[in-house]
Amino acid sequence: MGRASLKLQSASCQTVYWESGELRIANYLTRRTFAASPAALEVIRFFSSPRTIQDALFEFRSYSRRSVAKAILQMIDAELLLEYGSAEWQRDELVQSSWRPWLPEGGFHFMTKDAAYVPRDWPMAERLKTLPSTPAPPQFKRVSGAETIRLPWHAMADDVFFETLHARRTHREFANGKLSLPDLSRLLQTTWGVQGYFHTDIFGKLPYKTSPSGGARHPGEVYVVALRVDGLERATYHYQARDHRLARLPAKLSPRLASAYCADQGYIARAAALFIMTAVFARTMWKYGRARAYRTVLLEAGHLCQTFCLTATRLGLAPFSTAALKDSLIERDLGLDGISESVLYVAGVGLVARRHI
Ligand SMILES: Cc1cc2nc3c(=O)[nH]c(=O)nc-3n(C[C@H](O)[C@H](O)[C@H](O)COP(=O)(O)O)c2cc1C
Repeated sequence: MGRASLKLQSASCQTVYWESGELRIANYLTRRTFAASPAALEVIRFFSSPRTIQDALFEFRSYSRRSVAKAILQMIDAELLLEYGSAEWQRDELVQSSWRPWLPEGGFHFMTKDAAYVPRDWPMAERLKTLPSTPAPPQFKRVSGAETIRLPWHAMADDVFFETLHARRTHREFANGKLSLPDLSRLLQTTWGVQGYFHTDIFGKLPYKTSPSGGARHPGEVYVVALRVDGLERATYHYQARDHRLARLPAKLSPRLASAYCADQGYIARAAALFIMTAVFARTMWKYGRARAYRTVLLEAGHLCQTFCLTATRLGLAPFSTAALKDSLIERDLGLDGISESVLYVAGVGLVARRHI
């Protein structure tokens, strides 16, 4: 079949905006942006339903065939026009079918995936150049002119809860040795495990966990990257919260790959286990059809991570968290489409290095 009779359709994951007086089209799924002329928008609108290049040449017959064909070929290269039924077209469709209630605002999720990170081998002087030349904003706010009231200052209570809170630190150095299976199990059970169920008339049986969740929808899933866990083969596992079991995934694992997942941060390779947090957006979206609910999904990952860090601290372990991730690499290895379920955040743990004790 020649190109002229190929059916094409406009990518639906597009937003258009002005930048310095220039019209730009962004495809938030491919994260590619292009300068465009308003005429390009006419072509994109024409292809909102599947059509051939021949159809377009007829529709835009007042323009030269050459210029229309050239514009269409450029748009195919830019993945603004997709071959109807192709893998790219299916991915674009999947975003529409699984994210429709939260679009276009939800494009933010896709636009911010797979960010470019400052290379690890850059010297500090180069890294500093990426910061603005202006001073950092003040750390604390004061309401000027307002009356202030002195509050009583508490000495640290002799209480394990407050001691644990105060002891939590981000660790990036770890002792050799393995995380015990009971500790791994405790971390999972306490942070992501089902503590019980409650019944509602409208939504039926809902789980409760140690962290709150908007509407008790609990969109979070967690995958264990077991690098050094006693009694567990080095592999990646899905935590099946309902049954408190681990399901082994087929992807190969090495410390270097674990580090690559986290944007090549070196200390990750020396950790005992990572806990990759993802979200199944439909759980929340089904009930909350406004894009604002996307915020709850992110906020909940924060709740879970803090619970994880505190549990690890209480167990005498060395927790950390990182949002610097290679999303698509992780999603490929977890077997996720990255659209209906996507990675959000990684928590991890190692054994406490001697100098921290
Ligand atoms: C959302 C989030 C993302 C973070 N991402 C990273 C990261 O990519 N790499 C890293 O080494 N630390 C990361 N951290 C840890 C912070 O650097 C750390 O919390 C901060 O330096 C304060 O130290 P503390 O946790 O010991 O109080 C992250 C923390 C948060 C809350």
